[in-house]
Amino acid sequence: MIETRHLTKIFGLNTAVDDVSFSVDKGEVLGFLGPNAAGKSTTMRMITGFLPPTSGTVVVGGHDIVEDSLPARKMIGYLPENAPVYPDMTVTGFLDFVAGIRGFRGKNKGRRVEDTIKRCFLGDVRHQTVNTLSKGFKQRVCFAQSILPDPAYLVMDEPTDGLDPNQKHEVRAMIREMARDKAIILSTHNLEEVDAICTRAIIIAGGRILADDTPEKLKARSSLHGAVRFTVRKVGGEDLKRDLIDVRGVSDARILEETDSHITIRVYPEEKGVPPGEAVLSYFMDRRRPVEAFQVEEGRLDAVFRLVTTDDMGEDEP
Ligand SMILES: Nc1ncnc2c1ncn2[C@@H]1O[C@H](COP(=O)(O)OP(=O)(O)O)[C@@H](O)[C@H]1O
Ligand SMILES: [Mg+2]
Repeated sequence: MIETRHLTKIFGLNTAVDDVSFSVDKGEVLGFLGPNAAGKSTTMRMITGFLPPTSGTVVVGGHDIVEDSLPARKMIGYLPENAPVYPDMTVTGFLDFVAGIRGFRGKNKGRRVEDTIKRCFLGDVRHQTVNTLSKGFKQRVCFAQSILPDPAYLVMDEPTDGLDPNQKHEVRAMIREMARDKAIILSTHNLEEVDAICTRAIIIAGGRILADDTPEKLKARSSLHGAVRFTVRKVGGEDLKRDLIDVRGVSDARILEETDSHITIRVYPEEKGVPPGEAVLSYFMDRRRPVEAFQVEEGRLDAVFRLVTTDDMGEDEP
């Protein structure tokens, strides 16, 4: 387990990380979400022992990162921001160097390097020097470096930043797979990524934790949560919006799209999280109106993110 206790970092007059406490267990993928300068990277740097905290501490697998740093750091793989990798080394040379400083020797070391090259699909570029690689491959070499020792804990600062959609997909699949027997902390700007791989998300802004919950529960905070979207054939001379607001369980309705033949309308639940889908379906069936499509909205993480980080209570449309 990784546990941060009242973690705080002050740079001059700037409190970059302000009393941050949380813990992450094996099997969890914790996503750090926050605007720029929120304190995500600084928190990760303190967790990995790269920066000393101003106050508070981090306990990694029972070892204090300040008092008992080496055993703590041995258990962590770290992918820092912007993939710092020695530019003049070849991919194999760099990973061999990393395996060495991670304490692997002899045959074991060779196996470790080969295994990592294979897992990270680096075979084709293994003899290239790092400075000749594209940004995506450089990122992948740094990713490889972080998982090489098969650490119990992984801390990854924007692991998919700068990757193309296929590479993102691969990296996410790898993270999901590794999560089974590791505790993983990653930071991202990408809300889709949180949905795709994180079991938990911490929203951080101004160095403080503003929310700590599962992606599902966070989405449930969205005003869209439990709303239902219907597309039906249009009928002349009616006020569908007004009619639907009268249906039981519906608090409001909003027309999203109107063409010559069809209308798409969203109905909002009276009670949060109780979608009025059935009542509205009955309304249409009673009138023999074919429903072409309908969809219950889960809520949107980006709306919740905005709500939590800016107090923007505005509509999270469309
Ligand atoms: N080494 C440093 N010296 C001074 N200020 C820093 C340093 N590193 C980060 N900061 C400041 O701390 C705040 C948080 O930065 P950072 O942790 O990088 O945010 P994030 O990763 O969420 O974008 C920012 O205001 C940044 O300018
Ligand atoms: Mg950062």
